[in-house]
Formats: sequence, C-alpha cells, structure tokens
Amino acid sequence: MLTRLAEIDPARTLAEDVRSGLGGADKSLPSKYFYDAVGSELFDRITRLPEYYPTRAERAILERRADEIAARSAAVTLVEIGSGTSEKTRLLLAALRRAGSLRRFVAFDVDPTVLDQATAAIAAEFAPIQVDGLVGDFERHLDRLPAYPRRMVAFLGSTIGNLDRAGRARFFGAIRDSMADDDTFLLGADLIKSVDRLHAAYDDAAGVTAAFNRNVLSVLNRELGATFDPAAFDHVARWNAEQSWIEMRLRSRRRQCVHIAALDMDVPFEPGEEIRTEISAKFTRSGLGAELAAAGLRIESWWTDDDGDFALTLAVPDTRPADRSQAVASAP
Ligand code: SAH
Ligand code: AVI
Repeated sequence: MLTRLAEIDPARTLAEDVRSGLGGADKSLPSKYFYDAVGSELFDRITRLPEYYPTRAERAILERRADEIAARSAAVTLVEIGSGTSEKTRLLLAALRRAGSLRRFVAFDVDPTVLDQATAAIAAEFAPIQVDGLVGDFERHLDRLPAYPRRMVAFLGSTIGNLDRAGRARFFGAIRDSMADDDTFLLGADLIKSVDRLHAAYDDAAGVTAAFNRNVLSVLNRELGATFDPAAFDHVARWNAEQSWIEMRLRSRRRQCVHIAALDMDVPFEPGEEIRTEISAKFTRSGLGAELAAAGLRIESWWTDDDGDFALTLAVPDTRPADRSQAVASAP
C-alpha cells in the first residue's frame, strides 16, 4: 500500500519550482520532475545502456558485499530512499533474509507508479515481510520516515549526486537527525573518472538519455498546460570541473516563446539558450567523508568495484564506538 507524505498539492510545488526556475536569466528545472511513469521507464532503460556504468558497478559491489553489509547492519528494517525499481535492492533484501534479521522494507520515491510496481513485486518475492511504499520528496519529507527498530537507510545509484553541495548537507543532516544509534546509512556514490567516459554515460549513442532529458518538457506540457516542443531542444551533457559534476541541459534550437497556461507565463528563448535540468556530482572518498562528517556521520566501511568507478559506503552516527561488537560485549 502506498502512503502519500505530501498533504499539500504537489502541482503547486511544481508550479512554484517552474516559475522560479524559468523566470530568470539562468534557466533551470529540478531533476525530480523527470520521474513520471515515462521518465522512470526511460531511467530503467538508461541503467542497461553499455555506456552507463554506475548501475552495473554498484550491482557488482552489492553482489560481492551484500552479506557483509547485512552482518554489519543487522538491519530489521531496510528503508530505501529514491528507490525506483529497487532492482539492486533485492540483493540486500536477500542477504538480510539469509542473515535472519529482515522483517520490513520501506520504499520511498517521488514517482507513485514505479513505487507501486516495485513494492508489489517485492512483497510477493519476499513474503512474509511487511512492505510499505511512501510517496514523497527526499528534500522535504525525510522527517516523516517511520521510526522502526534497527533500520538501514539505503540511498543507492548515486542519486546523492543530483543534489548540489548545500542540498547534500541538508540531506545528510536530515538522515542523521532521523537515525537512532543502532541505525546505519548505506550510500552509493559515483567516483570521479575520465571526462570522456562521463560524456558517453550521459549522452549515449542510442539517445535514451536525450529522451529522458526531454521528457521533463512533456511533464510540464501535461501538468501545467505548457507548449514546449521537445524536438526544438537539443540534449547537452557538459562536465563542470569546478563543481565536479556533469550537467544535463536542454538547448533551444531556435528563437521561440513557450506559454505555460497554468502559470499565465511566457518563457522566451534565444537560439542556443539553455535550461539546466540536472547535475550529477562525482565524488572522492575524502570529499564524501568530509561531507558526511559535517553532518555527524562516520564512514564505517567503504567498498568499490574492481575498476574503482563507484563506491558503496556504510556510515553510522559518529557518536557510536568504532567497534560495535565490542561495545555490545562489554555492555553490563
Ligand atoms: N535507486 C535506484 C533509482 C535511481 S533513479 C537505482 O539505484 O537505480 C532516482 C530515483 O529517485 C527515481 O526513482 C526518482 O523517482 C527518485 N527521486 C528523484 N528525486 C526525488 C526526490 N526529490 N524525492 C524522492 N524521490 C526522488
Ligand atoms: C538518478 N541519477 C543518479 C542518475 C545520474 O546518473 O545522475 C540520473 C541520470 N541522468 C542521466 N542519466 C542518468
């Protein structure tokens, strides 16, 4: 069963975000609006593209380390943020089931369609565990995560890279605030690598990422009565070395004016003018460790794939003694 966390009208948030994102000279849109039913399906296709290494690299780490992660977390509840299809998560669920601790899975995503399908499939596959779906925004609703005992909160796929530094600080702070002493936080993060590989991963030969990028315009047409012609915008992927992120943009092919009926707004575009639609930051161990530490989280384990493309890290509240097995053993 899905629970919606936002009591306010989600269309209002979209309207406010679009008004502020397209109202000024530097145009941008939040990347969460990619993910309607079509966008989630396109992302699923992206994960299978030869150029898009992150999903395969993270799965390889999970295949090798899931039992170790299950033992270290001893999680009774797995909470997955930005869960999507929860495809790789099945490796964690299976390991936690083997370890005998798993009782509950909570999936949290902004797209109800993908959440409905994923939770139904996992409930059938992992019966009799309890499976809940929460529809919400991880930038606004993390304070509503259910406080079940011994949770592992997983945030996979390097979705953390879709937030800028200030957004990541808020996100990590909210995760830390929600954690009990025996909870753990499992984070997937894409690592810095050659610009050529990044460009290929975000501008694939089959054009699936381009379709994913343009889909946000179809979302605005449907939800806000906008008149975007997606074919009038080129897909652009550009490495920003200063920020250490790859950006996706939509570049207007010509001078045009788009009307957004629900906002009673006209948005003019010059030829070549761009909308930034996504950032995808890439990390180093020391950089990520510092960001986690600033939020009161300490890296307990750090695993990478054989090529060093991607990292999975298990973090704990930094008030906890370094070795929990000893802490438990010496407790009265
Ligand atoms: N974790 C999966 C999916 C990653 S795609 C994987 O590793 O493959 C990113 C997912 O995060 C999508 O399912 C999208 O719907 C969700 N998402 C994006 N922005 C979100 C937000 N602000 N709040 C909640 N979910 C969000
Ligand atoms: C979900 N997120 C981590 C993906 C990424 O790589 O930043 C979204 C994506 N954008 C283009 N391709 C995939």
